[in-house]
Amino acid sequence: MSVRKLYAAAAVVALSNATLLCKTQSQPNPIAADYPNDPTGTVNGTIAILPIPYSIARSIIPSEYPILTRAISSILPHLPADEYPAFLQLDIDHDVQASGISIPDFLQAKILFPFVDRLGDGYTSMMYGSQGLISADNLVAVVGSSVYGYVVTGGTFDPPCDAYGCVEGSEDCEEKYFNAYSALDILREQPKIGINFTTTDNSPYSLDVFKNITNQPQFSANKLLCDQFIRLFNSSVTMPPYAPQAIRAQVSAVAPFFAQTTSWSDVYGFQLDNAFIEHNLVQCDSLQGYQFTD
Ligand SMILES: *[C@@H]1O[C@H](CO)[C@@H](O)[C@H](O)[C@H]1NC(C)=O
Ligand SMILES: *[C@@H]1O[C@H](CO)[C@@H](O)[C@H](O)[C@H]1NC(C)=O
Ligand SMILES: *[C@@H]1O[C@H](CO)[C@@H](O)[C@H](O)[C@H]1NC(C)=O
Ligand SMILES: *[C@@H]1O[C@H](CO)[C@@H](O)[C@H](O)[C@H]1NC(C)=O
Repeated sequence: MSVRKLYAAAAVVALSNATLLCKTQSQPNPIAADYPNDPTGTVNGTIAILPIPYSIARSIIPSEYPILTRAISSILPHLPADEYPAFLQLDIDHDVQASGISIPDFLQAKILFPFVDRLGDGYTSMMYGSQGLISADNLVAVVGSSVYGYVVTGGTFDPPCDAYGCVEGSEDCEEKYFNAYSALDILREQPKIGINFTTTDNSPYSLDVFKNITNQPQFSANKLLCDQFIRLFNSSVTMPPYAPQAIRAQVSAVAPFFAQTTSWSDVYGFQLDNAFIEHNLVQCDSLQGYQFTD
């Protein structure tokens, strides 16, 4: 390694250790006082649907759980039958607190698999995940995901304190980007997940599609316990001037998210902030029939 590369690496390590000192542009948690006993916070970033071949989804989702194809076609009627809607979530978890105790902000990148029949009842949609890339310096967040059975990769992010930034030279910040790296990739040679996006008026998906997907109870390798993560769409951080904006994006993801490097040149989603309430370590069985309404 050249001296110059070593210096670059040292600078990146120093930078990534500075997440604690990061100053995010996100607004504070608006609902902490309303739900004093539950963990609450905000998730500010981008979400999108990544169409993938059904066969790849089937190879990632554990074979004992059916996929609720009828629910998929009722919510996403235009998705071809041989495709499956993987769900991309890139965000900063900000101002997370419970019973007056706050945890430091962290960034995360996940690709999740909704519409899974985790309970075998033929109708309750839940969302499976196996891999998460989470700020390497946030032990609470890393352990918090591991408990559910996620394999967590410690990450560093560009930009470091927000879930997207302006592409340099883009006029009026029309083009935005975000890159999530393994913390071991100290030279940042290859993002594990990267996104470039602009806002659009031509999204094929309504916000309701994402209200449904983001509110499906989440589970990973843990055979018993689910994460009931409730995203609210009615708090001040999801209202003008912070209303969700539809986006059109280019995305790339590499292992461990997909066995093969995968890129999408034209996917759709939203740039948005949501307040959330999280019911941790809930018995999955108790969530049978859960539906989100706001
Ligand atoms: C969400 O993050 C973006 C990017 O940092 C910021 O511009 C925006 O104001 C944030 N939204 C809210 C509601 O805090
Ligand atoms: C985003 O744009 C940059 C600059 O053109 C490029 O290097 C990067 O590969 C793009 N990322 C994606 C996910 O397309
Ligand atoms: C999402 O929509 C499906 C199909 O209508 C429904 O069965 C499921 O309960 C909904 N999920 C949530 C979390 O509302
Ligand atoms: C916002 O939505 C949540 C979840 O559906 C609901 O419990 C709450 O009462 C709503 N809040 C307001 C102010 O409407």
